[in-house]
Amino acid sequence: MGQTSGLTPVLTAHWDEPDSYKIEGYRRHGGYDAVAKAFAMGPDSVISLVKDSGLRGRGGAGFPTGLKWSFVPQNDGKPHYLVINADESEPGACKDIPLMMANPHSLIEGIIITAFAIRANHAFIYLRGEVPHVYRRISNAVREAYAAGVLGKNIAGSGFDLDVVVHAGAGAYICGEETALLDSLEGRRGQPRLKPPFPAVAGLYASPTVVNNVETIANIPSIINGGVDWFRSFGTEKSPGFKLFAVSGHVNRPGIYEAPLGITMRELLEHAGGVRNGHKVKFWLPGGSSVPMLIEEHLDLPLTYEAMAEAGTMLGTGTPMVFDETTSVVRAVTGWLKFYKHESCGKCTPCREGTWFITDLLTRFEAGTGKVEQLDTLNQLCGQIMGRSFCALGDAAATPFPAAMKYFRDEFIAGTETAADFMFDPQKSMMLPVVTR
Ligand SMILES: Cc1cc2nc3c(=O)[nH]c(=O)nc-3n(C[C@H](O)[C@H](O)[C@H](O)COP(=O)(O)O)c2cc1C
Ligand code: SF4
Repeated sequence: MGQTSGLTPVLTAHWDEPDSYKIEGYRRHGGYDAVAKAFAMGPDSVISLVKDSGLRGRGGAGFPTGLKWSFVPQNDGKPHYLVINADESEPGACKDIPLMMANPHSLIEGIIITAFAIRANHAFIYLRGEVPHVYRRISNAVREAYAAGVLGKNIAGSGFDLDVVVHAGAGAYICGEETALLDSLEGRRGQPRLKPPFPAVAGLYASPTVVNNVETIANIPSIINGGVDWFRSFGTEKSPGFKLFAVSGHVNRPGIYEAPLGITMRELLEHAGGVRNGHKVKFWLPGGSSVPMLIEEHLDLPLTYEAMAEAGTMLGTGTPMVFDETTSVVRAVTGWLKFYKHESCGKCTPCREGTWFITDLLTRFEAGTGKVEQLDTLNQLCGQIMGRSFCALGDAAATPFPAAMKYFRDEFIAGTETAADFMFDPQKSMMLPVVTR
């Protein structure tokens, strides 16, 4: 087990320098040195090194990055593509956009190395059209890289060619789902594709394609430079390395804290200046609105993929949202469901209809006009969506309500029009119908 506490600025090391986003600023700290190292190693050794490092995808699912690259068939005669998922739209997730603003060249250097490893000569960066400042920043960085000869034909005399296209989507959460993203990139309406085939075999234009998150790929240059042992000196066996933890919500200093995997939420809270004055944690979510919530008793768990799974949640995007005791959990859950209802692409029935029904019922509980039996209906609806939807957006929509019920059932009961018929039973520490007491 490696270091699991303290801050570990690697990607964020020079963010406070005025030219951190320019190629000169990046080069001043060894930027683009990893490209030459990777070229000297050859594609297969780069893939092996990334596999051995244990790097897991930072887009939410935590899939091993080197393993994903190794699925790309070799010598198949087809063009290969690398697509960077920069669509970041999950409520609470705010790490890729700041990374692209402050350190875009770490992403571009990672793209060059990854494209070389998977033998791709074209890469795409897909981001939201609503963030024009990021589009401008990353487009300028790509232009700088072409001018410096690290993109284009025969990069650094290696014989390797790479073109990078920055593509602005029209802005839809579903376009962050990798196959919907590929459809959108091909000019179609962004809706998920049936898997298999997975993108590594048949992705963009039906050719082998690796889709990776911005932060995942920005990590690659440091892994090439530092090596496997250095990377594994942070984090745990199953969750090696460090991560951009974007802490938001009711904390004194919301922001991005780059720390080793395995750090606890309690320590991250300390870095973020603690919960706002006079308040305490009511509930928190480790990585975006799609992962089940936790409560104060979980603050000392290590933020790793494995520990979060054991606690019944997920690390997700590693962007914790913190809520204090002034928050209505019913309102928070209803807000997330409104988002999922709005963003459901409509392709499959459980999600298209289910998000509508769940939101409608939750709105009643928020208004204090729910019925106790509707809590069962809500549970059933979530059960019918979970695992039965075409893509993970449906599962995400079915997550917040059951998770909130686990810890805050009383608050939903309080949102019923018959709440007066329920009383708090101090022995059982729960609300019970008056007749059963
Ligand atoms: C509805 C939905 C939205 C998603 N949005 C993003 C996103 O904005 N960025 C991202 O990297 N992954 C997103 N993902 C996950 C991607 O499908 C995919 O797993 C990820 O880009 C793989 O990259 P990684 O292996 O580097 O994590 C989303 C998934 C779903 C179901
Ligand atoms: S789960 Fe929702 S977002 Fe995903 S395909 Fe079905 S309708 Fe579309």
